[in-house]
Amino acid sequence: MLMNRAETALINSAPRRWLQRLYEVPTLLRFGGRLLPGSRAVEIGCGSGYGSQLVLQRFGAAQVDAIDLDPAMIERARVRLAPYGDRVHLATGSATDLREVLNANDGSYDAVFDFGIIHHIPDWRAAVAEAARVLTPGGRFYFEEVTAHALHRPTYRRLFDHPADDRFAAEDFLDELGQQGLIIIGSVTRIQGDYLLGVAAKPLAAGGGR
Ligand SMILES: C[S@@+](CC[C@H](N)C(=O)[O-])C[C@H]1O[C@@H](n2cnc3c(N)ncnc32)[C@H](O)[C@@H]1O
Repeated sequence: MLMNRAETALINSAPRRWLQRLYEVPTLLRFGGRLLPGSRAVEIGCGSGYGSQLVLQRFGAAQVDAIDLDPAMIERARVRLAPYGDRVHLATGSATDLREVLNANDGSYDAVFDFGIIHHIPDWRAAVAEAARVLTPGGRFYFEEVTAHALHRPTYRRLFDHPADDRFAAEDFLDELGQQGLIIIGSVTRIQGDYLLGVAAKPLAAGGGR
């Protein structure tokens, strides 16, 4: 589901960027660390491309494929990410079908980044399954998500548009990661039951972690 005007303004505001840069990225780096040299990453729901810039600069990805359902966001991202040249590939389409959007085979990426997008997807489990599918063994899923608890708050209900059905609580999201064979590294940061940040790894072999 696309963002409405109010959410587009909030997501692209300076305070949101500060939060992402000064809190979310350090938290995710603490859990999952930087990527190995030469790593390929995909950012699902890249919006205007600020997250992909952080994936390149702060997480050290060599290449980023960034996708979004909204062509207008992809155009914004194209402008922002132009200085990175062929280190960035942009595409319009859904995080629920990365084979269709990016021709992504199983095990194509060393890291998947989700900066607050999976709660926008009605079939959110399909997006988690795709993230797990495209990760290499040992690859990492970096996530920052918004739970049903937040989406039920009056401010969210009045100002923003989100799928009404099958919203996830933090435990539902973490359970789904496990269902898809991903293992949380360290701990998960939960903020008032509304937000969660963490990193999950795809095991190198059955039953093992990286
Ligand atoms: C809350 S915004 C987050 C944008 C960006 N990650 C950021 O942090 O600035 C959610 C984004 O997800 C995109 N989106 C919604 N459904 C999607 C889907 N099924 N596949 C890919 N992107 C989707 C929206 O167009 C929007 O850009």
